[in-house]
Amino acid sequence: MNVQAEISRRRTFAIISHPDAGKTTLTEKFLLYGGAIQVAGAVKSNKIRKTATSDFMEIERQRGISVATSVLTFSYSGYLINLLDTPGHRDFAEDTYRTLTAVDSVILVIDSVKGVETQTEKLMQVCRMRHTPVIIFINKMDLEGKNPFDLLDECERLLNIHVHPLSFPINKGQQFKGVFNLFDHSLQLFTPDKQRVEAERLVFDDLSHPAIEHLIGFADAAELRESVDLLQGVYGPFDRQRYLQGAVAPVFFGSARNNFGVKELLETFLTLAPAPSGRQALQRFVEPTEPAFSGMVFKIHANIDPRHRNRIAFVRVVSGRFERHAMYYHCRLNKHLRFSNPYTFLAASKQVVEEAWPGDVVGLPDTGLFRIGDTLTAGEPLQFTGIPSFSPEIFQELVNRDPLKSKQLEKGIQQLTEEGVAQLFYHSSSGRRLVGTVGELQFEVIRYRLEHEYGASCQFIPRNYYKACWITGTDAGAVQEFIRLRSQDVFYDKEGHAVYMAPSEWMLNNVKETNPRLMFHHTSEFKTRGEGFAEPVNHLRA
Ligand code: G4P
Repeated sequence: MNVQAEISRRRTFAIISHPDAGKTTLTEKFLLYGGAIQVAGAVKSNKIRKTATSDFMEIERQRGISVATSVLTFSYSGYLINLLDTPGHRDFAEDTYRTLTAVDSVILVIDSVKGVETQTEKLMQVCRMRHTPVIIFINKMDLEGKNPFDLLDECERLLNIHVHPLSFPINKGQQFKGVFNLFDHSLQLFTPDKQRVEAERLVFDDLSHPAIEHLIGFADAAELRESVDLLQGVYGPFDRQRYLQGAVAPVFFGSARNNFGVKELLETFLTLAPAPSGRQALQRFVEPTEPAFSGMVFKIHANIDPRHRNRIAFVRVVSGRFERHAMYYHCRLNKHLRFSNPYTFLAASKQVVEEAWPGDVVGLPDTGLFRIGDTLTAGEPLQFTGIPSFSPEIFQELVNRDPLKSKQLEKGIQQLTEEGVAQLFYHSSSGRRLVGTVGELQFEVIRYRLEHEYGASCQFIPRNYYKACWITGTDAGAVQEFIRLRSQDVFYDKEGHAVYMAPSEWMLNNVKETNPRLMFHHTSEFKTRGEGFAEPVNHLRA
């Protein structure tokens, strides 16, 4: 099989949503279509309960299972689909951000009752940063939700993206009668039924057809005609190119629980969504069709068994063909490695894989050699960019409670932060260590895992920082001077890059005003470009 043919039939994407909008239900329906699961509820039972705000035992249990569901690979209608799972729990948002770097497009689920929620806005910001093509699915149309025009408007305003409805609902809640597809002019009638197979499509090239009254009644037929007229006037013809550039998001309406509008969504998604694309490396752009293999590590998953610290590094294949037993070059470590047991995730179970192609995700058993963002190639030194660290939102200082176990603590915290559980910052003169996360839950996870996996005991002391800002500037002297003057609040990340911990928004604005030649970044993405960084400080292993 050649690379081009393998690429064309692949689609690698993620479904994202605010918790409870229906991501799990939609995922499950997709898998049922793909024949990857037979029973409804199979994905659901693997889901981290979002009500469990600090139930880390539940999370520990889930960690074991969720390896298998991290990537769901299934085929449908000649396509090979890699659906990358993202945790619904808000405290694991950073995991989701990173997974978004490994996909080529996204389906965003919105609850028609709640509209656009905070988590959705954040996820969308990440998609916009990367120009990821997004399709919006407005779910739960069987409930008394918001007006569909208001929902479209809300998406444009709050998600900051142009929308283009490709289907439109006929009424909602108890009166929900179905959707009209503006793409292929078909009408699908709704009957509530969790077990249903997707409704039949009735094509109407002419919306004045009297059968429409017969099917949905006079009032709804009149309203549908008016809405479609209005929508066609406002939105005009759909431009796929703009969708591919991430400038416009097609919108579908439906009900995942009732399996309504799901098949239509899946089929349109397969036609519109991009095949696996290349990735930018520091050195050059890598095309997926290049024969030589390259891939990037976007996620590291720890083994649930505390006696073995084995981990799985998830590698997205960027170019060429990945082969089991072949020698690959680990660029950061300047080492050649052979992988005898790479995994794939076909049908939600782990299997050894012989080969993989661009867009696929391979799980590599890892004893600590990988870090998020690492690049593997067939020999060329490359470093893929675009796996950023975002500024954490909660900061706590890590204090060792057992001096006899400081080595274990150091090793544990190093490994956990390499997995991406949290970010670690060092203060160069005092040696203080600051752990930054997006959720409280991670601190509990870290404390628990340090104790159970590494035998170390720690304490966390909350520190009131507002944001972590990576510092750059074209004038190296000015950067150094700032670091000297603000040494109290300047820490270093794991690569030794200087980060200003802003104590408050006011302070940050003040510092920006008084240091116009410096830049303060809330993500670390730019650093791979290597511009104007203060020289990395090599104090980490001190
Ligand atoms: P999430 O992964 O985004 O967190 O959401 P999930 O799919 O778990 O859905 C959250 C709740 O919303 C579930 O109810 C699910 O059944 C329901 N839901 C999903 N799609 C629809 C829909 O189209 N219409 C309606 N009315 N509800 C929908 P639950 O009570 O938490 O679970 P369950 O008892 O139904 O399994």
